[in-house]
Amino acid sequence: MAGNWKMYKTPADTASFFAKFNSLVAAAQHCEILICPPTLDVTTAVEATRGTNVMVGAQNVYPGKEGAFTGEHSGYLLKSAGCTHVIIGHSERRQFFHDSDPEVVFKKTVAALEAGLTPIVCVGEMLAEREGGKTEEILVQQFREGLASLTAEQFAKVVVAYEPVWAIGTGKTATPQIASDAHAVIRKEAAALFGQPAASALRILYGGSVKPDNAKTLMAEKEMNGVLVGGASLDPESFSKIVNY
Ligand code: PGA
Repeated sequence: MAGNWKMYKTPADTASFFAKFNSLVAAAQHCEILICPPTLDVTTAVEATRGTNVMVGAQNVYPGKEGAFTGEHSGYLLKSAGCTHVIIGHSERRQFFHDSDPEVVFKKTVAALEAGLTPIVCVGEMLAEREGGKTEEILVQQFREGLASLTAEQFAKVVVAYEPVWAIGTGKTATPQIASDAHAVIRKEAAALFGQPAASALRILYGGSVKPDNAKTLMAEKEMNGVLVGGASLDPESFSKIVNY
């Protein structure tokens, strides 16, 4: 159960979030719990979650260990700061920051793995693509671009998030059936490239307007291994309800 705070919350907001959130999810043993705050808040989040069942991740990674790359953070820096995971190829990064350019997602995924971080690789179609009947094609294309060149050993460490772009921040959640069908497409492609056991073991999260009142229905789908939550992860009560669905 992963939260993506995007560009919200100061270090002080981060400390007050965890002061409430940690106890609300302390008993949760059915899942892993992850919060991905802005990079500037990572240190505060790591301190605030030390000794708890909550992990901290980043929202982006630069492919490369260190160097003259103003404004960027490598996997090595994120790992050193205490991150365990990193979101890669989120649709907002694909749309506004060139993450859909060839090889970007692949290179970032490899960089994350080399740094010892678990990559959460996002794929998902735009509304026009869904309406034009291109969902499957887009999912397969993004999956292949990002992950097809990984070794089997690398692929085993990757988490995929299906995030239909039309459902992100819009209040329009994919129906459990739509989400489930898309997960099945991704798993089928994983099987074609890496074999059935790897595909069965792959964890696929759903993201896009997940809220406390729809988490249970979504999670009831067999294909659903977890959720990636934006807006509803900003409030400790609301995200704890999703975690404890
Ligand atoms: P949302 O965002 O839950 O606010 O729709 C999801 C995401 O972008 O990961």
